[in-house]
Amino acid sequence: MEKRWWKESVVYQIYPRSFKDSNGDGIGDLNGITEKMGYLKELGINVLWLSPVYKSPNDDNGYDISDYQAIMDEFGTMEDFDRMLAAAHENGIKLVMDLVVNHTSDEHPWFVESRKSVDNPYRDYYIWRPAKDGKEPNNWGSCFSGPAWQYDEQTEMYYLHLFSKKQPDLNWDNPKVRQEVFDMMNWWLKKGVDGFRMDVISLISKKPDLPDGPVGINGYASFNEPANGPHVHEYLQEMREKVLNNADTITVGECSGVTLEEAKKYASSDEKELNMVFQFEHMDVDADANNKWTDKKMDLRDMKQVLTKWQKGLEEIAWNSLFWENHDQPRSISRYGNDSKEYHDVSAKMLATCLHMMQGTPYVYQGEELGMTNVPFESIDQFRDLDSINAYHELVEDQKVFTHEEMMRYLRYKSRDNARTPFQWDSSENAGFTTGTPWIMVNPNYKQINAQAQLEDPDSVFHYYQKLIQLRKEKDIIVYGTYDLLLPDSKEIYAYTRTLGEEKLLVVCNFYENETEVEIPEEFRNGRYLICNYKEQQPIGEKVKLRAYESFVIEK
Ligand code: GLC
Ligand code: CA
Repeated sequence: MEKRWWKESVVYQIYPRSFKDSNGDGIGDLNGITEKMGYLKELGINVLWLSPVYKSPNDDNGYDISDYQAIMDEFGTMEDFDRMLAAAHENGIKLVMDLVVNHTSDEHPWFVESRKSVDNPYRDYYIWRPAKDGKEPNNWGSCFSGPAWQYDEQTEMYYLHLFSKKQPDLNWDNPKVRQEVFDMMNWWLKKGVDGFRMDVISLISKKPDLPDGPVGINGYASFNEPANGPHVHEYLQEMREKVLNNADTITVGECSGVTLEEAKKYASSDEKELNMVFQFEHMDVDADANNKWTDKKMDLRDMKQVLTKWQKGLEEIAWNSLFWENHDQPRSISRYGNDSKEYHDVSAKMLATCLHMMQGTPYVYQGEELGMTNVPFESIDQFRDLDSINAYHELVEDQKVFTHEEMMRYLRYKSRDNARTPFQWDSSENAGFTTGTPWIMVNPNYKQINAQAQLEDPDSVFHYYQKLIQLRKEKDIIVYGTYDLLLPDSKEIYAYTRTLGEEKLLVVCNFYENETEVEIPEEFRNGRYLICNYKEQQPIGEKVKLRAYESFVIEK
């Protein structure tokens, strides 16, 4: 397998609005990130992915961009950006920009022009269709509730928006659109950024006839209908030739709706398109078909089946990205671990072990390295995320699919805002995030869970992440070894091996509170512990008893 720096890296994702506020307006900003570069260096990560920092009216917190070559007012200036980039590079950290080009803001000058008239030069930058039988052109739904079409009176036509109506979809079939995007990307590369995380890049190529799809609980087809469309690979290959080959980049495509077969093309080791993709099947093991708002809990066997399918399916052919969290997902400890006081640390460390020992590039989402938890939201007006707010109005008030209590329970479990509350720096007011009023509530548990306390405690979740990241730098087998699942039918234990030549690792994770026992394969019985999430390690014998959420790695 080809060695590559981006295979050997660990990426840290920052959601700038919630990371660190430097000027007391309650909103995180670029100078706040620069201030904390030392913290990131100490953790050991070597790539930073920033959620969007471009000029934006913030309908979807920066994922609606009105100028790709300017910085959002609240986040600072281009000079602040340059200083942050320089600080990252001085600390040996590469910078990945979020590239949001499936859509723009409706306030982007291209769209302002496009909606003016059918013969405007920018008309064909977006996807416009006439009404069909007096209604929307097809049955697609927006990711954020309601139809994916907005009627525009000016020209009496609909435009497509797979996300909010302030996020009109760009028409990638127009070569001018592609060239605009490629020029903009080259401009950022010239500035010195090191790569791109590509927002919903799997959705950019729509079938020309925009066919209806099967409908979900709210009566609309999924926003994912256009996933992996007819020209997506062609367009990404064009991007590779015209942009990405101009620099030594790291690229990851957010590919909602991606299948294994498609991922082999997006992230193929021949490096014609992207380096890796984010797939979401392991985020769906606790969802009902097409509906994430549910009480369903994951069955560990499903999780193992999905992750193993991706580990084995891409082996030698393409490259995996590894993640439990991002700004669109709830906190993993509250979802797949146990956030009670008793098991907080041990279950956070167990989840980290399970993920960081797999093959692929690991991503750590801000606060995950502290075991930050879901948030005890009490009322709907504490939410800021349009996905959560719109879903509440649609499913509770308009369609009465769920009661208020049910929906609040689902939101506390799954809302994206669980991951978007301020980073917990210390035990001072507002968790040390801001001296002003934070734009979204602070998780009340910041006095117990915060960076300062964990930096002082050698046994903290932070230091455990630090150790996992360090081990990956030291051991090729963690990066390049092949993965093989053990005990596929166990309901409690996730165990697998990694193999590189003569070397071998055994990874064992107890996903639950109940104690259990694992048989140690013979070849590991004379091995040694590489890492364990309990201080007292047990002797390695034929069998090892597993304590609550215990996890360890044994080196042959
Ligand atoms: C991606 C982003 C998400 C955003 C959406 C629309 O899924 O991760 O936060 O809302 O795309 O840009
Ligand atoms: Ca600020």
